[in-house]
Amino acid sequence: MIRYIYVIVSVCVALCAGAYDGAGLWLPGAPAAFSAQIDGPKSKDASVGVACDELRRYWSGVPVKLVIKRDAGLGDEGFRIEPSDRRIVLTAGGGRGLLYGAYYLLRKQKAGTLPDSTVTEHPRYRMRVLNHWDNLDGTVERGYAGKSIWNWDELPDVESPRYREYARANASVGINGTVLNNVNASSKILSDDYLVKVARLADIFRPYGIKVYLSANFAAPMQLGGMATADPLNPDVAEWWKKKAADIYRLIPDFGGFLVKANSEGQPGPCDFGRTHADGANMLASALAPHGGVVMWRAFVYSPSDPDRAKQAYAEFKPLDGKFAPNVIVQIKNGPVDFQPREPYSPLFGAMPSSRQMVEFQVTQEYLGHSNHIAFLAPMWKEFFSYVKPGSIDAVAGVANIGDSSNWTGHPFAQANWYAFGRLAWDPDEESSVIAGEWLDMTLNAASMPAEVRTGLMDMMLDSHEAVVDYMMPMGLHHLFAFGHHYGPEPWCEVAGARPDWLPKYYHKADSLGLGFDRTLGGSRAVEQYVDSLSAMLNDVDSCPEKFLLWFHHVPWDKVLPSSDDTMWNTLCHHYEGGFKAVKTFQRQWDAAAPYMDGALYADVRRRLMAQARDARWWKDACLLYFQQYSKMLLPADVTAPEHTLESMMDINLDITNYESPSVELLDAVR
Ligand code: GCU
Repeated sequence: MIRYIYVIVSVCVALCAGAYDGAGLWLPGAPAAFSAQIDGPKSKDASVGVACDELRRYWSGVPVKLVIKRDAGLGDEGFRIEPSDRRIVLTAGGGRGLLYGAYYLLRKQKAGTLPDSTVTEHPRYRMRVLNHWDNLDGTVERGYAGKSIWNWDELPDVESPRYREYARANASVGINGTVLNNVNASSKILSDDYLVKVARLADIFRPYGIKVYLSANFAAPMQLGGMATADPLNPDVAEWWKKKAADIYRLIPDFGGFLVKANSEGQPGPCDFGRTHADGANMLASALAPHGGVVMWRAFVYSPSDPDRAKQAYAEFKPLDGKFAPNVIVQIKNGPVDFQPREPYSPLFGAMPSSRQMVEFQVTQEYLGHSNHIAFLAPMWKEFFSYVKPGSIDAVAGVANIGDSSNWTGHPFAQANWYAFGRLAWDPDEESSVIAGEWLDMTLNAASMPAEVRTGLMDMMLDSHEAVVDYMMPMGLHHLFAFGHHYGPEPWCEVAGARPDWLPKYYHKADSLGLGFDRTLGGSRAVEQYVDSLSAMLNDVDSCPEKFLLWFHHVPWDKVLPSSDDTMWNTLCHHYEGGFKAVKTFQRQWDAAAPYMDGALYADVRRRLMAQARDARWWKDACLLYFQQYSKMLLPADVTAPEHTLESMMDINLDITNYESPSVELLDAVR
């Protein structure tokens, strides 16, 4: 009976609050019922104004006094909160610290976890940057939440209300930079016409502590400036960039700098002119240095210097250690290949002690089921930080999953990855469960649900990344994706004329003997790129962690693994089965929460979970039936019998571009 009343009350609360469309993200939505007394310092700093406004609008607790104290050891962005029964004192070294302190208070208020003793917070990294892969024509490379939120045609005259909400959302989780355009960059973004548009966005974001950066095309002096070369050692080229930098800083005095994808996947770069990555990066760095800007130079390169693609970035960049200017930061993807569902960390981290480094995570789910699958990524990013000590890198970047869809990210739960990215970039030691809980409470009001329902939703989030790994590519398998859109399985994929290292067979190497890429000392020797202790552990098939086994070893199908006490084949089958079953559990956990939320939200996630469950089965059937041709072993009795034949799955040809998630209807039609 009590439960029944609870359900009715919860439904009424949900209905009174209006239908959920996800547009409000995790931010405080309804203004506070009464205005608390907010006492702020006199300051010209616009961030102070935002901090006070946010608290005046949404804070409903005891009075808050905001204080700026430059010598309090809090730096530019840190803050201290001293609570008492009568009032809270929020102290910071400047406006941005007050801003982050204000959002901290609002977050804790909404989650019902206000501190009762003094709290001091500093971000671990000075740069916490989103990378938008947004093209100037409005498409978003690997974006699954609609078109770009930047409306270039209307800028600089028309200001979409979304720009300010975007800035607010980022500031609320501590993100302090944004690269507006795709790393596959159009030079046009550096034209005078576009720079005024960029400047308008920078003006909107500034009060929220967010700097604007741009992806620069290395050949811009040729494409935009009409020059015959972009050789970084050519003085006219260097001069062109110096002038361009000066033009940008006239419009945007706090411009952050450039992000550059050079000599990678067809992009131009210094190697086109016989120069090194350091030559190219340093030339841009010297153009930006007088203004305080940085160059984020990507290490995502894989020209075939070694037959193993996983070794190529290290091979190209390690010899350049110590050669980069102080305002160059080498931006390295978390793993050595390309944002696979699970990768070991890139061995470049820690291998360039005399260079600044930053990690690039992918928030958008290019290889994790797009916006159809729930995959909460905090556990994956924490796994990276468990190997790469937070202190060894300088900054954190995340490829954004944001688009113009009404809820910003397509899948309602993909918002949690944007949220988690910011929270971990601020504090990589924060627990995934704390972040998931905060997001659930603030977004879905989960704190008001029965405890077992909230726990179910938490478990769903926390188990979701591992589930995707299990049904797609367990045990270190990687790149089994369909060519092009990277959505479904295609371990059999052959494309005439394609680079071998874009094709699954290059990576899984299934044959009658076994499965996996031999990267041991007897194979490609990629293990050598890791620090000594780890290298020895990875090199030995019996000590290599099961989650990386097939990344580093070609393992016989019938080898009994110490981790499972079962054959490699049976262990593999059980991972696929486990991933598929986990999604079935997610469906039950979501259904249990149905009475406590808006019907449209429930139906939306339910629909996506149906697609995810069907996809999980599709992945399991496709990979197991394909590999079974080589293992010639039976599926274990406790593995769900395949629903499809290998031939029928090999016929599936999803008609989607790089930039879309397939609709549930399309998936229904093809399977
Ligand atoms: C992946 C992705 C591309 C992207 C590239 C990059 O390969 O599929 O769309 O351009 O990474 O990070 O530069």
